Amino acid sequence: MSNNGRIIVLGGDGFCGWPTALHLSNAGYDVTIVDNLSRRKIDIELGAESLTPIATIDTRLDTWEEISGKRIDFRYFNIAEEYRNLVDLFAEIEPQAIIHFAEQRAAPYSMKTPSHKRYTVDNNINGTHNVLCAIVETGLDIHLVHLGTMGVYGYGTAGMAIPEGYLGVKVEVEGQEIPIDIPYPPHPGSIYHMTKTLDALLFYYYNKNDGLRITDLHQGVVWGTNTEETRLHPALINRFDYESDYGTVLNRFLMQAAIGHPLTVYGTGGQTRAFINIQDTVRCIKLAVENAPMRGERVKIFNQATETHRVRGLAELIAGLTGAEIRYYVDPRNESLENELVVRNDQFLALGLNPITLSEGLLTEVIEVAARYKDRARSAVIPPASSWRADIPLDKEGSSAPVAVEHVLQVAGGR
Ligand SMILES: NC(=O)c1ccc[n+]([C@@H]2O[C@H](COP(=O)([O-])OP(=O)(O)OC[C@H]3O[C@@H](n4cnc5c(N)ncnc54)[C@H](O)[C@@H]3O)[C@@H](O)[C@H]2O)c1
Repeated sequence: MSNNGRIIVLGGDGFCGWPTALHLSNAGYDVTIVDNLSRRKIDIELGAESLTPIATIDTRLDTWEEISGKRIDFRYFNIAEEYRNLVDLFAEIEPQAIIHFAEQRAAPYSMKTPSHKRYTVDNNINGTHNVLCAIVETGLDIHLVHLGTMGVYGYGTAGMAIPEGYLGVKVEVEGQEIPIDIPYPPHPGSIYHMTKTLDALLFYYYNKNDGLRITDLHQGVVWGTNTEETRLHPALINRFDYESDYGTVLNRFLMQAAIGHPLTVYGTGGQTRAFINIQDTVRCIKLAVENAPMRGERVKIFNQATETHRVRGLAELIAGLTGAEIRYYVDPRNESLENELVVRNDQFLALGLNPITLSEGLLTEVIEVAARYKDRARSAVIPPASSWRADIPLDKEGSSAPVAVEHVLQVAGGR
């Protein structure tokens, strides 16, 4: 199959999907975006738009065509509810690959209320299952590339480096030790993460039963905003989520520093997480598309992360760069206050990824972007607004107020 084939990007109007669609179009692929613009509607619900002024999808696509001479096609529908549209689209386009970003992706949003929990499960599980079922119905040999998360592994590792999807174990059979690979035990920390672990089981089944070729990318926390392509014109600018549900931690800190808000550290900030720059996200996805599993191969799993950092360390780094104050909040999540994290990412490195790691230059660029649009920010949506714990009801006035770090430890008890 041609390397410059047709690709469908599900969720191609989002933070990762939009720059990926541009990157693949720039590389010569014929791209079709499917999106129901649900993320833009959630902006309205949360009372916080992207910090960067993102253009409408039509303006984005027209601008890209003017600049590049390439047209990206757009279909507006809900992949979780409009199954027949998916089947018809796959049959019409016969894509080489489908890249699946189209899920509700914020852990705090998924924990807000019972209705947000149910929406996240309905949207993510039905959407993923519809995609798989539709590929089988068309009978086409399409490579599915899905965006999963490092959070499926949980953040306790018994001291070892987290492998890429499969854990090698030895089982004792009649006195003999037999080595086998098992899917790494899932350990979701939120309803959102739970949907990603269920997605993985759906992939396991459709790969085994129907021979679908699937790559699942266990992605770290994405930071940065622009890529080579989105920098080409203001109307191509990528979204920048800064409020407490969708904003990712490093981008939030950079934005808070830019507008003079204290950096919002949850708990002691001892949580260690895996990170990747948005430019590397789009590069990794292209590498995954171009290195598809063979027919009959098990689900290919990559850890799409380039480095790990402790949240407290990031806050201190940014405070040092900008003079920002660090402010502690009672951690609204059910998570260990301190954890170590070592992650293997040998497969992308072997495919030639040269990772962008945290550098002052890139951090400063994000701060500059945030500073340029700081008048669009609403301070009210910066402190934590969703809670995992009934004893920290953040919807009551004042309960998300900053506290002394000693109090954080006292509330956390043995966590
Ligand atoms: N952003 C991160 O830091 C990060 C980290 C790890 C994994 N991921 C994964 O990457 C993927 C993309 O994340 P993102 O940050 O771009 O999220 P996003 O919310 O910005 O983008 C998702 C897009 O999918 C669309 N969408 C959602 N449900 C849909 C449906 N049922 N039908 C059609 N369109 C639908 C939304 O409108 C949105 O444009 C997600 O699956 C997420 O879990 C993201």
